[in-house]
Amino acid sequence: MYDNVHLIDHPLVQHKLTLMRNKEASTNSFRRLLGELASLMAYEVTRDMPTQEVEVQTPLETTRARVIDGKKLVFVSILRAGTGILDGMLNVVPGARVGHIGLYRDPQTLQPVEYYFKMPEAMAERDVVVVDPMLATGNSAVAAVSRIKSLNPRSIKFVCLLTCPEGIAALHAAHPDVPIYTAAIDRQLNEHGYILPGLGDAGDRIFGTK
Ligand code: URA
Repeated sequence: MYDNVHLIDHPLVQHKLTLMRNKEASTNSFRRLLGELASLMAYEVTRDMPTQEVEVQTPLETTRARVIDGKKLVFVSILRAGTGILDGMLNVVPGARVGHIGLYRDPQTLQPVEYYFKMPEAMAERDVVVVDPMLATGNSAVAAVSRIKSLNPRSIKFVCLLTCPEGIAALHAAHPDVPIYTAAIDRQLNEHGYILPGLGDAGDRIFGTK
């Protein structure tokens, strides 16, 4: 339906996601699988990163070969569940910079309120990948992307494990220029804002809280 929604339909990604959906998966397994899955997703998300040719001296001769171009990529984690994806992405792109954004939902207005925002310097020269395991109502994602856009980064992508039609529609309506990368698009949201069939509360399952 949207040409900038990328479904990462790789067998390893789908296998790990299915194991994570299982309510019997331990905190330990859930966290490990999330890290592995995030590393696999990082590979797809960074596929179009710009490169430049440099000269390199091999043990045999001098040649030209490609390296990543420009300022370091920034992963922006939406607290707290974004942390689980962040670690896996950093395994694959260890030199990336990291930003954090903390949002809570105001109980009266149900709108996201920012309580923390810390980004690397020179954001205007950087490509940003915002990470949050669940794109559900889309409210946090829309607020996070709006705030990051105020720093004029070169590009923004949004990465989640799971989303649903409502989440995609909300983020796309507010930010049609931001591509969404996801391992699955589930059926729907329930009345509490949880994705069905989903995997439950990602933050609680990552951190072993209730
Ligand atoms: N956040 C979660 O952790 N799970 C959902 O299903 C929706 C939002």
